[in-house]
Amino acid sequence: MPLPVPVLPEGVDPAWLPPAAFRAVGGRRTLIRGSGPLVETVHGEVADACRRFGGRVVRDAEPGDGAYDLVLDLGGADDPELLGEEGFAFARAGGTTTVTASGGRGLLYGLFHVVRLGEAAFTGERARERQHPALALRMLDHWDNVAVHPVMGQVERGYAGGSLFWEDGRARGDLERVRAYGRLLAACGINAVAVNNVNVHETEARLLTDRIGEVAAIADALRPYGVRTHLSVSFAAPVVLGGLPTADPLDETVRGWWAEATGAVYEAIPDFGGYVVKADSEGRPGPFAYGRSHADGANLLAAALEPYGGTVHWRAFVYDHCQDWRDRGTDRARAAYDHFVPLDGAFAANAVLQVKHGPIDFQVREPVSPLIGAMPGTRLAVELQATQEYTGQQRHVCWLGPMWSEVLRFRHRPESSVGELARGGLIAVSNAGDDPFWTGHPLAQANLYTFGRLAWRPDADPGGILDEWIRLTFGPGPEAGLHAVLDGSWRTYEKYTAPLGVGFMVQPGHHYGPSVDGYEYSPWGTYHFADRDGIGVDRSVATGTGYAGQYAKPWAELYESPDTCPDELLLFFHHVSYGHTLNSGKTVIQHIYDTHFEGVEEVEEAREVWDSLAGLVDPVRHARVAERYEEQLRGAREWRDQINSYFLRKSGVPDERGRRIY
Ligand code: GCU
Repeated sequence: MPLPVPVLPEGVDPAWLPPAAFRAVGGRRTLIRGSGPLVETVHGEVADACRRFGGRVVRDAEPGDGAYDLVLDLGGADDPELLGEEGFAFARAGGTTTVTASGGRGLLYGLFHVVRLGEAAFTGERARERQHPALALRMLDHWDNVAVHPVMGQVERGYAGGSLFWEDGRARGDLERVRAYGRLLAACGINAVAVNNVNVHETEARLLTDRIGEVAAIADALRPYGVRTHLSVSFAAPVVLGGLPTADPLDETVRGWWAEATGAVYEAIPDFGGYVVKADSEGRPGPFAYGRSHADGANLLAAALEPYGGTVHWRAFVYDHCQDWRDRGTDRARAAYDHFVPLDGAFAANAVLQVKHGPIDFQVREPVSPLIGAMPGTRLAVELQATQEYTGQQRHVCWLGPMWSEVLRFRHRPESSVGELARGGLIAVSNAGDDPFWTGHPLAQANLYTFGRLAWRPDADPGGILDEWIRLTFGPGPEAGLHAVLDGSWRTYEKYTAPLGVGFMVQPGHHYGPSVDGYEYSPWGTYHFADRDGIGVDRSVATGTGYAGQYAKPWAELYESPDTCPDELLLFFHHVSYGHTLNSGKTVIQHIYDTHFEGVEEVEEAREVWDSLAGLVDPVRHARVAERYEEQLRGAREWRDQINSYFLRKSGVPDERGRRIY
């Protein structure tokens, strides 16, 4: 039986799957061959499209010469090993377009490939080409709480309303929207979701045991679109849930407890993906309390998951969050590398070390984490942040595709890029919630889509992905304007916020809006050290914290000297005077002034472009974005004026161009 396509609740934006995106498929004659649950999903999709556009769908007939425009064939390929569970082959000959796959997910991804191509999938001839994801795991971590947290609300660092999964303290009774979410994810290649916050609070800890049925219901809703469910768990679960006196990873009763709890999880969810763990990080429990290493901790959970083929994602975000700001010897940027490099090779095969892309915390500009290049004996996953905690909180337009692409293409050593080193997957903290536009700012949908497509192909051109998203979501008409407002938006955001890689300068706690010294005398280890003479953090080996030495050559040498360090990272690696001349030829202080004026001007221009799209974009969507541009402009001006005034007052150096600084 074909699975009906999920019905969006009234008023919910169809994002990149509006009915019009299915026009080319829906107007044609399609044959579907094969069996299995995902074939029913594919059938449901094609049947729905045909109903709208007058085409026809047939199951399991012989292809026949020219009888069908599209054949979606599961199991008919000669090269099943090469296609794998998720790959597909695409070809067009004699008036028929053919997608062959050897796994259900492959067939589904093949169908969405045809949808993306639209009419182009049905014109000319195309030699058979195989497509498969470069990374097996393409996952979203939802920082969603079941119970509304007194400080963080329901979704930690969430800017898109409440949780898609949880409502009124339990899993939603109506999971139709979750099904629709799974569908959107499949259409951009995402195949896994962790359904709760890495900070596992009291209520959420119980999802592992007596509340696993709620997780199973969510898993049931996501499964038809090939999305597997994962769960964040507390390392202290044996104590807080099991009543044991210890959570020591080498204790036999603890090991037994995890084995039993995990067995029960798989009874409820046979295709459960595994656990996500934040341990010994920002106050979370972990193996350090028992004098054990993080490999001991991760391997404990890996052993419990191993009989079922599950994976533990162990986060490398471990640092001292109670630092004394007077102590210049401790450098938070060094922490992940210092903790984990000595453990390389000690992790079980089904333990994945999940590393944030930068060494600090998702700032608008950071160097690529040196840890990613220093763990050849460990399966690594790279973690990105789609939720825009530090990049405008989905009130500012900040399309992160170019930043993520730079990260994924970065090579610590010539032989492999970050995209290739991420053998354990690419993961993003999700930016979606129950907001009618899914992501608060309608243009932030582009980040979610781009993440999925980059996880599928980390070396893909992000600009091409952006255009694909625009075409699907908006149809023809406003493409050029949309491209213009999104393409450079990350660099614009960087211009009006913290300069030259120095980071933070945000309001403490919620992290929205400027506060230059907000974290300067705090315990969090994120300082800029600005005084009357200069600014920046000396992370050189020669005179600083030594962080630059964590990189392989040539990066270690390049970052070591202010003369060779790339401008955009200068203040991350060096403390320099305001008069220091950048490679661009400008002084640091003049760069700060110029970029902050430019950043605001660029937002003003983008807002005008957006205004000019009225009439080409759905009015509700247009109005929501227009409203957010007002706030972005207000925010950008606030950033400009606070940063420029602060540095004029500190340095006493006037703006060469005599512009107004307060
Ligand atoms: C950031 C964020 C926290 C989050 C943490 C993490 O510090 O502000 O809310 O818990 O990252 O990644 O664990």
